This record gives sequence, structure tokens and C-alpha cells, in this order.
Amino acid sequence: MLELINVTRKYGDVVAVNDVSLTVAKGEFFCLLGSSGCGKTTILRMVAGFEKRTSGQIILNGRDMGDDPPYCRDVNTVFQNYALFPHMTVFENVAYGLRIRKCNTAEIGTRVMEALGQVRLSGFEERRPDQLSGGQQQRVALARALVNRPSILLLDEPLSALDKKIAEQTRLELTELQRRVGITFIYVTHNQTEALALADRVAVMHNGVIEQCGPPGEIYEHPKTRFVADFIGSMNFLDGQVTTATDRGCRLRLAERWDVEIDKASPVAPGNRVLYCLRPEQLRLSLLPARDFENSVPGVLRRKVFEGDATLYLLELANGQMVTVSQNNYIARLARDFYELNQEYLLLWSRTSGEIIRA
Ligand SMILES: Nc1ncnc2c1ncn2[C@@H]1O[C@H](COP(=O)(O)OP(=O)(O)OP(=O)(O)O)[C@@H](O)[C@H]1O
Ligand SMILES: [Mg+2]
Repeated sequence: MLELINVTRKYGDVVAVNDVSLTVAKGEFFCLLGSSGCGKTTILRMVAGFEKRTSGQIILNGRDMGDDPPYCRDVNTVFQNYALFPHMTVFENVAYGLRIRKCNTAEIGTRVMEALGQVRLSGFEERRPDQLSGGQQQRVALARALVNRPSILLLDEPLSALDKKIAEQTRLELTELQRRVGITFIYVTHNQTEALALADRVAVMHNGVIEQCGPPGEIYEHPKTRFVADFIGSMNFLDGQVTTATDRGCRLRLAERWDVEIDKASPVAPGNRVLYCLRPEQLRLSLLPARDFENSVPGVLRRKVFEGDATLYLLELANGQMVTVSQNNYIARLARDFYELNQEYLLLWSRTSGEIIRA
């Protein structure tokens, strides 16, 4: 439905968006995820037509949008700050776009009520924005975009001004709403939890470039670059060198002394320097002697952090590197009292866990 081909946007020497290509399918919930300044808003503004591209093509429904002005594009934007008209009622805020386009009164009435129903705000027509909570104001902003029945809705950090509980609740409502109305969503956020929870596919951006694009599970389980591995969730990075490699797996030497076997086909050859990435939840702690286990590394427990559902254990390896292990407290209820600081334990993992990234 929407295709960006080699799109670049420069501001003087600043390359805000650098040769980005992506496709978004009809009905998809697509997320652009990245830290501040990576170019997310610039992409949205180019799709909406508020911003010109320096080079590349933006194609909507098979047609290059070229330099079409915003009002000629079949897209609508929901901004972070809502941008509601404070002196107008909820009804008038939502009706505004239709009045501009000279729809007749009966049609305006029907469509505004339908849009307010979609965001569960029926009955709030006569209120003014200052008589609504932040979450409700955000839903008015959503209704104001939906009422135009665009083929794509662009949302720029719409939940970032809400407190955590309300944001979580609104997040759930958003996915339901999107499924119900079937409009394609392009959703910008710097919040990885939000992106993983909402999106059908996530594009992880860094310095104007898309580092990886795929379903949330794939991004989390198989990060392709160090940036993605580090940005999504928490990750331990162990320096390693490949000693042998076949198409079914390889042998790594980690931190210059431990040999481990990994059951993962990866594009590496003997001698390559790599980063072996292990999530804290892929590791386990054990007291048993090292020789009984393959893929284990000794470490000294330096800190315990109780997080309610889980406990984090920070262990120091012989080369001084810290590694984090996360253990579910329900499954290992006794363990969190049992592990003692400054004792040596083994960190264990299975041959199939972890990802290898070329250093
Ligand atoms: N009008 C402008 N003139 C000059 N530089 C700009 C302009 N707009 C954006 N930039 C720069 O382009 C880069 C990308 O900006 P953009 O607003 O797209 O980032 P973002 O990913 O949306 O960040 P945030 O999460 O903070 O909203 C930044 O380095 C920014 O300073
Ligand atoms: Mg932005």
C-alpha cells in the first residue's frame, strides 16, 4: 500500500533520513522505533506531505505522491500533543475536517458519531477538551483523524504524554480499534515495549537508517546488528572468536578462555571476531562444577536486584566483564535467598540460545 524507495532527507549537512526503503501492507500496524533524533518524525512528515524529500520515491496505492500537498494525500496524522481546538466542543473538533470539505450537516452528524463510537467517546460530544482527561483528549484526536476515513493513519508518539497505566490501557484499545476499522497504521515511538506490544512489524531506526525490519518476535529473538540487540530488551554481549564453523553450528572461544558449542547456522568463518549475545532470561545459575556442563562460564555473584516477578543477578567473569542473569521468582522461589554475594557460580545456557553478530 505504501512504499518508500531510497528516500533521503537532508537539512544542510544533517542527514535526517538516509536512503530508507520500506513497504507497508494494507491493514498493517507498522511501527517506526528508534531513539530521539533518529529520523522517525521526518519520515512521517514526508509521507504526510509536510516535508519534502531530498531524493527517493514515496508511493501510495501504486502512485508516486511526488510533491502532492498534504490535503491531496489519503493519509491523516495524530500528533503527540493532540492539537485539539480548546474553544470547540468534542463534536466540533471531530467535525472540523468535514466542515472544511463542505460535507452536508446530516453526513457530518453520522460520521462524527461513528468516529466517537469507535474511540468509545459516545456521550462526550458537548464537552470541551479541558473537561477531558489526557487519555480522552488523545482519543478525540484519534477520532478527528478517523472521521476522514484515510487509508493510512500516521501516529507520532501518541501515548507519550500519558501516564504509564493510562498509556498501557490506551495501547490495548488502539490495537483493538485498528483491527476493527482496518485502517493501516504507521506508528512512531521511542518506546520499545510499546512497539513490541502493538506492531505487526517493527522497523528499528538508528541515525537515519533502518537497521532491521520484521515482526516483534523476530527482532527480539534474532537481532541482526549490535544496535538492535542492545536497543530492544536487555542483552549480554560476550566477545568471542570462531574456532570452527559448519552450516549447522559453530564453536566459539569466549572472553579468550572458554570454548562453547552453538547450534546455529550463521555466516561466520574460523578466525572471525564475533559478539555472542545472550539475554538475561536465557541464562541460568548453578552451583555444580564446571566440567559437568558444556556452555557454562564461571562467575562471581556481585549484586542481586529484586524486581518483583524476577530477580536479576549480576556476575563478574574472570576478565572483569559483568553478565546479567534473570531468574523468574515464581519458578525459583527459593533461589533468590539461596544465592550469596561473592560466591562463585556457573552461568549455564543451551546450545541453541543466543545470537551471533559479526563484530
Ligand atoms: N527543520 C529542521 N532543520 C534542521 N534539522 C532538522 C529539522 N528537523 C529535524 N532535523 C534534524 O533531523 C534529525 C531527525 O529528526 P526527527 O525529528 O525526525 O527525529 P525523531 O526520530 O522524530 O526524534 P524524537 O524521538 O526526538 O521525536 C535530528 O537530528 C533533527 O535535529
Ligand atoms: Mg519525533
